[in-house]
Formats: sequence, C-alpha cells, structure tokens
Amino acid sequence: MSENYKHWQVNRDNNDIAWLHIDKADSTTNVLSAELLNEFEIILDDLTTTPPRGVAILSNKDSGFVAGADVNEFTQFENEDEALTAIRRGHTIFNKLEQLPCPTVALIHGFCLGGGMELALACKYRVADDDPKTKLGLPEVKLGIHPGFGGTVRSIRAMGAPAAMNFMLSGRNMSARIAKRQRLIHYATPKRHFINAAISIINNPQKIKLQPLPLWIRLASYKHFRPFVAKMITKKVAAKAPRAHYPAPYALLELWVHHYDDRKEMLDQEAQSVAKLIIGRTAQNLIRVFTLQDELKALGRYDDYQPKHVHVIGGGVMGGDIAAWCAFRGFTVTIQDQKKAALANVSKRAYRLYKKRLKIKRLITSAMDRLIPDPKGNGLKRADIVIEAIFEDAKVKQDLFKSIEPIIKPDAILATNTSSIPLDEINIALKQPSRLVGLHFFNPVAMMPLVEIVKSPTTDEDVSKKAAAFTKQLSKLPLPVTSTPGFLVNRVLMPYLMEAMVLANEGVPLTVIDKAATDYGMPMGPIELADTVGLDICLHVAENLSKNMSIEVPEKLKYMVEKGLLGKKSGQGFYLFNKGKPVKEKPGKEYSPPNDLQDRLVLRLLNEAVACLRDNVVETERQADAGIIFGTGFAPFRGGPFNYINYRGQEQLTKMLEKLQSRHGPRFSADEGWLKTGN
Ligand code: NAI
Repeated sequence: MSENYKHWQVNRDNNDIAWLHIDKADSTTNVLSAELLNEFEIILDDLTTTPPRGVAILSNKDSGFVAGADVNEFTQFENEDEALTAIRRGHTIFNKLEQLPCPTVALIHGFCLGGGMELALACKYRVADDDPKTKLGLPEVKLGIHPGFGGTVRSIRAMGAPAAMNFMLSGRNMSARIAKRQRLIHYATPKRHFINAAISIINNPQKIKLQPLPLWIRLASYKHFRPFVAKMITKKVAAKAPRAHYPAPYALLELWVHHYDDRKEMLDQEAQSVAKLIIGRTAQNLIRVFTLQDELKALGRYDDYQPKHVHVIGGGVMGGDIAAWCAFRGFTVTIQDQKKAALANVSKRAYRLYKKRLKIKRLITSAMDRLIPDPKGNGLKRADIVIEAIFEDAKVKQDLFKSIEPIIKPDAILATNTSSIPLDEINIALKQPSRLVGLHFFNPVAMMPLVEIVKSPTTDEDVSKKAAAFTKQLSKLPLPVTSTPGFLVNRVLMPYLMEAMVLANEGVPLTVIDKAATDYGMPMGPIELADTVGLDICLHVAENLSKNMSIEVPEKLKYMVEKGLLGKKSGQGFYLFNKGKPVKEKPGKEYSPPNDLQDRLVLRLLNEAVACLRDNVVETERQADAGIIFGTGFAPFRGGPFNYINYRGQEQLTKMLEKLQSRHGPRFSADEGWLKTGN
C-alpha cells in the first residue's frame, strides 16, 4: 500500500513495515518546514492507530537525510509566544514518533543536521551510511540557539553528557564512524545495505544492544556533579563565545544542570529556552549570516560549468596554497614556479594540509597525486583555468599573461590573484582581455572562506560567472566586486588597522586596543591581526590604497618593515611572538583607556563600508555584510556592518563621526553614502 503526500511518500509493504520517504517538494534538500511536519503528524497518527511491525524513515534526496529546520521560518516569529507554539508542535510530533509501539529506524545518508538529527534521535534505532559524505550534527549554536526539538535531552541520553555537550556546543559535524563510536548511531554501513539493515533491526530489535555508558560518563550527569562539570565547560566556552554576545551555549548548559533529572521538565524548558533565544538579536543576526552565506553560494550556481584542470603560476605563499586547496577539492592541478625550491615547498605544505584534513593515507596519496609540480608549464595547454599568483608587479604580470595567451585553450579562463593592481592594467597585454578575471583569495587559503571575484568593465560576464562557480566548487564563497583599489575586504580593513596603529602611536597599550575590538565582537584585535597578516603586506596594501583614499600610513609601520619586524612570521612585530603566540602584557591598574577607543576603530570600518557601497564595489548591503563577515571575521552576531548601521541608525552614527572628526581630524568625516543608510 502506498500513499503520497506533498513532502512524504509512505509505503506499507507485505511484511507490514512502513517505509517513510522524506521528499520535500520543489527542493533538492529536505528541510523540516511547518508544512512537512504537519504531514508527518498525520502519518504518525495513522501509524499510531494501526501500528505496523516497524517503521523505517529515509530520504529520497541525493543531498542527504534532512539538512535541518526551515531557517526562513525562524525569522517569521513576531514574539516569543509564537516561537514557543511552533517549537512545541515539533515536540508533540517527535514525541509521537518516539512513542510508536514498534521499532523505528532512521536510515541516514548525507546531511543529517539540526532538526533532522533530532528526528533521527527520536527513532529507536539509527543507521548511517559509512561514507565521507555523511555528516551528522547539531549545529544550532551557530544560529544562536540550541537544539529545540528534544535534541538536548535525547543526545545526552544517547551519548552521555560530555560527548553530547561537546557535539552541541561546538556545532561540529560527525562522520558515521565517529558517530557510531560515540553511540549517536547504532550502525555505520554502506547505503546499499540500508533496506536489509532496517528489516533485520525490525525483525530482531532485541538483538541490538549498545554498550551501556561507562560509569564516569554517567556520573557527569549526576545531580551533584553537574554544576561542577558545567563550570569547567563554561570556562572553555567563555574563552571563545562571551555570554553577552552568544547566550545560547550558556542556556544549554543551564538547561542540563537544572533540569536533567526530570525528562519531561527538561523537554519543556528546552522549548522555552529556544523560544526566548530565537527571537533575540544574536539569533536573528546569526540566522541572517546563515542566509547571507546561502546567497553567496547561490552566486556560484552554474551547473554546466565543470572545469577539471587548474594551472597555477607562482608557488609562493598564495599560489602554493591555492594549488594545494584546488587539489584537495578534487581538481587536477599543475603548479608552476620559476624556482624549483618553491615547488618543493608547495608539496611539503600541501602534504601537511592533507594529513591534517584527510587523515586516511589513501586519500592523502590521491590528493598528492593530483598536485603536479610543473616547472616548465606543460599543464598550461590542458588547463580549464589558469590562476596567476606571481609577484605584485603590473609589468611582470602583463608579460606573463602575454606569453601564455597563445598557449592556453581558447575557452580557458585566466585569473589573477592580485590584491591591488586594477585588472585593466593587467589585461591590456591580452588579445582577449575579456577572459581575465580576478580570483582574490585570502591568506591562509585553507582557513578563509571568501574569494573576491574581481570584475573589470572589460571582464566578460560569463567569465566572472564561471569564476564564481569554480569558487563554489572549491567550497569557498564567491563575492563579486569591482576592480577598484582594495576591492571590498582590504579596503574596509585598512582604515581600521591604521587607526589601531595611530592609537598605538598615541601610547594606548596594544592589548587595550585589541580588547576594545574583541569586546565589540571581532575574533581578533587589529594589532594582532596586522601582526598575523604580516606588517610588510599591511604596508604594501596601505600604501597602495593611500594613493586613492584618505589613508595615512603610519611612519612607525614603515620603520618596522624596514627593520624586518614583520609580525608573527619574523617573531616580532607590534607584539613579540613566542611559539607563534603574541606575548601580551597587561596595562598597569591605573591605566584608563580613551573613552572613544572602540568607536574610533569601529567607525572607521563602518565609514569605509558605506563608501564601498556608494562606489558600487559590491551591489547590495547584504553582499557587503557577507563579504565583510566572511573576509574579515567582523563580529558575526552583529549580522554585518550594514545590519549594525541599520540597527543603530544613520543619525546616531554620523553624529558620532562628527564628534570624532572634531577631535581627531578629517579621517573621520562621514562619507556621503551615509545619507542612503540606516533609515
Ligand atoms: P610570493 O612572493 O610568496 O610568491 C610569488 C612566487 O611567484 C614566487 O615563488 C616566485 O618565484 C614566483 N614567480 C614570480 N614570477 C614568476 C614567473 N614569471 N613565473 C613563475 N613563477 C614566478 O608572493 P605571494 O604573497 O604569494 O603573492 C602572490 C600574489 O598574490 C600577489 O599578486 C599578491 O598581491 C597576491 N596576494 C597575496 C596575499 C598575501 O597575503 N600574501 C593575499 C592575497 C593576494
């Protein structure tokens, strides 16, 4: 017997097993929308009335089981009560699933995240595909909430508090194998065995017994120990996510400490806690960041474009790491440098990256096989994309492009990783200048999620679309920007870094400057950031920008670079570095920082962001916010500079700029673009 719903397909077979296929209509991915859950409830009510011998839940989508709740619905709640009603509905439905009087099995492949993981946890048994693509996770903290469909209660009971807390607080995904080890699932097996696995579990449920949790794990949840364990975890959390900015992890820990002994009460409190968090600013802003990320990914949609071979010229800091990353993501890569030693170094660094990320020998070897040192440039004629990352010199770049144009395939894309040279200065050497696009990666390549897709007026639209698609295939976020000095990210970052250096020059202790920025929510202070990026690079970018913008390059910066004090890489910059970590001296107790310190830093960045939008460096406020968050790490819980501007209001912020201008000079004069914002 088979029944079709809009988002579900239900088959009850001859052995009286009900197979529930999740198949969200008009979508390539399953998400738990209210409509999909409503249908699920009808199905569960039917199954409760006439229970089958067993139930198996699986997905019809290639992308995976369920990617989570429908995040768009999170932004629709008018108030806490509305949110609570929606969350309680989820609870009711998942409780019905849990209470079915027969074995229930979740068959998981691909993504099984958030609400999807909670659905699986409400089944009595979980089987996951033993494939690297399987990703199980409860990433709700990344959206400023914690699991809200019973996931807090059920994950702790399945895995024990230490592992479950780590799982929920980190928001990290798990492979099927690790999930099995951590008792999150019962079996890890190839997907082709799913049907047999489900039948065998349903036929013999009593055979499946997980080892009981070891005593020490159970003790962690014992009433008298919980506050102590939570205190230790809180300390670790606080180092990464301050309570004032990120309340969700603390709410989760409190939920466990106060209510774990009473399952029903904990479920009820879980719903209340999430309802409160979800309508708060942090969650709404983090949800915004999540949707911004999706919007950037969408810019890379171009299904017909399937490049295979990438040729990188220049195996230095950037080219080497770009090549390694491309091979890591499955491309065949030839890497060319005029120096053999540079190529040897590329292989060494790539091996380190693969060892860390891939772990399995076979996978490391095949990634290394894809990364081919090519001192003579033999790969040029086969490449679908050529990326140039040689010295930052227009003439040298022109000569290179001129020399390779006759060799490469007619439809190959030419890309430059230049950080400051206008594309039209480089492409004049080409017969077909429209094929040149900028692919501006950030350092370190493996860590930074953003790539600016730099377009000049000459760049062919199709070429920049293909460059964005390639970027997405590299698992990076493409941001289209115009070929103007500093593009978006460096342009907004530089005034902020320079202001930090001016403050340092005024005698404000370095740690005080950095703390003002981290208190605002930046992941790292500007002085430490400059030292980490390298003071030579900062100087180079700042000098370039100063030709077109009112950026004053501090004399001290020039002096430090001359003396070889380059920051982390030389062991000494503004900070002294010990084993790669800055030595931070605390200011004396009597020291009190200037009260406009944080405003000086933040407003220079905001003012420049406004100027970028006025100059059409990016098209929209949303793209600017996305670029600045993913390119600079700008306080994610604030939802981006423009989101912050719109929240505080243009009037208030421009008044602050006026005050700063009268105190500190014209570098604080409000950009005329402010007139269009914050209203
Ligand atoms: P680098 O100096 O570390 O590496 C440049 C490499 O290119 C050297 O190994 C050199 O031997 C090689 N090279 C130079 N001319 C060549 C030629 N004609 N043929 C083959 N190889 C040649 O430089 P880095 O830092 O990697 O920068 C490369 C490009 O990336 C520059 O345009 C820079 O502005 C840009 N960039 C740099 C960033 C950084 O943080 N270092 C960040 C983003 C972009």
